[in-house]
This record gives sequence, C-alpha cells and structure tokens, in this order.
Amino acid sequence: MKSIVLKDFGSVDNLVYVELPVPSINDGEVLIRVKAISINPVDVKTRIGKGRAAKLKDENPIILGWDVSGIVKASKSDSFKEGDEVFGMINFPGHGKAYSEYVAAPAIHLALKPANVIHEEAAAATLAALTAWQALVDHAKIKKGDRVLVHAAAGGVGHYAVQIAKHLGAYVIGTSSAGKKDFVLSLGADEHIDYTSQALEDATNNIDFVLDAIGGENIDNSLKVMKKGATIISIPSGQNDAVTEKAAALGMVGYPIMVHSDGKEMKDIAALLESGAIKSHVSQVFEFDQMKAAHLSLETGKTQGKIVVKGY
Ligand SMILES: NC(=O)c1ccc[n+]([C@@H]2O[C@H](COP(=O)([O-])OP(=O)(O)OC[C@H]3O[C@@H](n4cnc5c(N)ncnc54)[C@H](OP(=O)(O)O)[C@@H]3O)[C@@H](O)[C@H]2O)c1
Repeated sequence: MKSIVLKDFGSVDNLVYVELPVPSINDGEVLIRVKAISINPVDVKTRIGKGRAAKLKDENPIILGWDVSGIVKASKSDSFKEGDEVFGMINFPGHGKAYSEYVAAPAIHLALKPANVIHEEAAAATLAALTAWQALVDHAKIKKGDRVLVHAAAGGVGHYAVQIAKHLGAYVIGTSSAGKKDFVLSLGADEHIDYTSQALEDATNNIDFVLDAIGGENIDNSLKVMKKGATIISIPSGQNDAVTEKAAALGMVGYPIMVHSDGKEMKDIAALLESGAIKSHVSQVFEFDQMKAAHLSLETGKTQGKIVVKGY
C-alpha cells in the first residue's frame, strides 16, 4: 500500500512516499481503506520534533496522522462489518498512522459515518471536533445561557466549539481577525471580537467559560474578562503551562486538556453532523501526493475551518 513515512523530524521534505505491507488487524480492530485524512497542528508540531515526537521517536516507521474517514475492508470487531463507512481519531495520543492507503483502527475509536456527510467532512470532524466536545461537554458541562468565549473561533477546534456551544444553548463570543468575522458569525456566534484591533477587556466581560487555543498572554487577557470562579481550558501544549496557577491566583479555575480517542463521543458527533446541528467547514482539499503542500498551508496558522487530504 501507499504510505507517507516521516524519515526524520524536520521539514516537509522528510515526509517520504513509500510502499508498505497492508497492516494486519488484531481482535477488536478493523482495517480501513482511507478515503480522507484531516490534518492538525499536532501533525506539524510532531513532524518538526515537538507535539507527539517524544512518544513516537522509537517507532519505525513513523507514520503521522490520526483523523480518517473510510471504508471497512476487514473486521475483527462485532461493532463494524466489511463495507461500513466509518470515521474517527485513531490512537490519539499514540501512533495513529493515518497517512496511508489502509489503517488498522480499534473499533472503540470509531463511529459510522452519516450517509449525508461526505468523507472529507467526516474526516475533518475528528480530532478538532472531539477536542471541542471534550472541553465543552465533558469538562465545562456548558449549559443554556452560559457566556462562552471561544478563541481562534475560525480555526479547526474553534469552528466546532462555536457550533457545539450554540447547540448546548450558550451565548457565544468568538475571536478571529477581521477577515474571518463573517465566517465566525455564520457558525452561530452571537458576537465577534477582532483580536487584531480590539483589546479583549474592552470588548467583553462576565464570561463563564473560555476555550483558549492560543496560550501565553491570551490566558492573562482572558482571565480579566471572566466571572469569579469561571473556568478556562487551554489547549496549546507548551504555551499553557501556567494556566492553573494564573487562574487560581485570581479565584478562577484553569487547566490544560489533551484530547483522547473515544468512539462513543464520535457517535455523539456523528449525530450532530447527521442532524445538521454542526457542519465541517473544509477550506482546502489536497490530493494524497500533496501532503507537503497541505502541511505548509496548515503551518501558516491561518486555516479557516479544516484542511483535508484525500486518501490514495
Ligand atoms: N490539547 C489538545 O488536545 C489539542 C487539541 C487540538 C488542538 N490543540 C492545539 O490548539 C491550537 C489550535 O488548534 P486548531 O486545530 O484550531 O488550529 P488551526 O485550525 O490551525 O487555527 C487556525 C486559526 O487560528 C486563528 N488564530 C491565530 N491566532 C489567533 C489569535 N491570536 N486569536 C484568535 N484567533 C487566532 C486563525 O485566525 P486568523 O487567521 O483570523 O488569525 C485561524 O483561523 C493548536 O496549538 C493545536 O495544537 C490542542
């Protein structure tokens, strides 16, 4: 099968196309013929030697990627049979191996792809959507009327977070640059803040929950607009080390989270996609042989919604 291996940590030139044997599957796993792969900042971070690199460095070969949508070709699980269309985030934070023609996946990381959602949009709604879901539902337990501030609301995680928070009945404020204001409002945000021209503390207040996808000073600025006792979850690892202490010093709750694979929650996301309560906005689709270009686009940090790469 065709696969893209990471020869060494570094530039996109280390993503090398090779032929590998089709993976075998263990009990509880399925073999997926990959139709679409979504890429995330963690793919780029790991490629350059950060992100999940420390965990993967002794693997041989290293195959990046966690987010897939595809067709089951063989199954050793009672949950899925050959021919089923499935999607999910495979083995995160472990070794996903999604940049391949075929991938072996634990059935407990997958859900059936809704028939009315194309593979590109299903592949997109995996790591980024699960992160938003786990932050808003599992951790923050957002309820009707909560004032929720979503940073980087036009990005992968943010654009799902806005839609999920609205679905939960929250009042949602999203940040982005001015050029993406209409996009953020189209997702259902009640208010938009242009972070390039507006100071956060002049633009909003009384926030119950912040989803921070930026880190650093953005944490300090967010704490200034939160209610006493409110919660901030910060997701960019390496830029959020002090969130707990900074929040506690001001009478708030703050902590980082790390998304994890969860097929039950993929089913929740599948239901929202199927009903139209959330939608994947895929701004760019690359061919399988354009993975380097896809990485270069993602690492600009300007992605609107998601970037997807087609299966081989
Ligand atoms: N801990 C976890 O489990 C976890 C899970 C997922 C993601 N993450 C991390 O979370 C971060 C975001 O991930 P992502 O997939 O959403 O990234 P992404 O899709 O690449 O985010 C791109 C978006 O960020 C916006 N942006 C950049 N700087 C901004 C700022 N200062 N204020 C507001 N918006 C800004 C851009 O909007 P403009 O073009 O308008 O600036 C762009 O739309 C990454 O660091 C990622 O590694 C962590």
